[in-house]
Amino acid sequence: MLKVVVCVSGGGTNLQAIIDSIAAGKITNTEIIGVISNNYGVKSIERAEKAGIPAFVLSPKDYSERSEFNKAFLDKVKELDPDLVVLAGFLVRIPEEFVKEYSNRIVNIHPSLIPSFCGVGYYGLKVHEKALERGVKITGATVHFVNEGMDEGPIIAQKPVAVEDGDTPEILQRRVMEQAEWVILPKAIDDIANGRIKVSGTKVISAF
Ligand code: GAR
Repeated sequence: MLKVVVCVSGGGTNLQAIIDSIAAGKITNTEIIGVISNNYGVKSIERAEKAGIPAFVLSPKDYSERSEFNKAFLDKVKELDPDLVVLAGFLVRIPEEFVKEYSNRIVNIHPSLIPSFCGVGYYGLKVHEKALERGVKITGATVHFVNEGMDEGPIIAQKPVAVEDGDTPEILQRRVMEQAEWVILPKAIDDIANGRIKVSGTKVISAF
């Protein structure tokens, strides 16, 4: 059984997609053992509690130094002792010591086709604003392992989504979530839980 901790910052629709996929048997051999939010009062916490999953809030605002928050965060994860950490709309930069400790055991969902529209400053709605500004006709989402770089780890899965005339960032964000994120993130977790994913250097090899 793959023990998973999901880290969130806001709405938690990706968290919900994981919860629903486990309930529907689309993700197997997997249990969410905890949800950690860096923000108080977000919908993600409600979603976790409704599903009977322990939820914790660790906010940088409660610490005078960023390094103290980073330590508290890593300590909390270690205490929960997961096999896999899923960043599902977690908009906090993951500290290097965390990445080292959980090498190839942290996955992130990003709302673009990496290497487009990713890296510093590209998160949440901003990603879709930039994609629309650039006028791309295809965007999408990516699930990848987290390494020391920003959105640079080995890519597990990607799914393209069409940009349509009249799209606003909000409309495009919703389409990318529905057609790509809520599909590829649960599938990636199921693939990991069932031993279908291997990392080889900077790449992921899927064994089916
Ligand atoms: C999602 O679109 C996710 O891909 C994005 O934040 C949103 C969170 O929504 N993540 C990033 O931009 C990471 N760089 P959710 O809370 O409803 O899952």
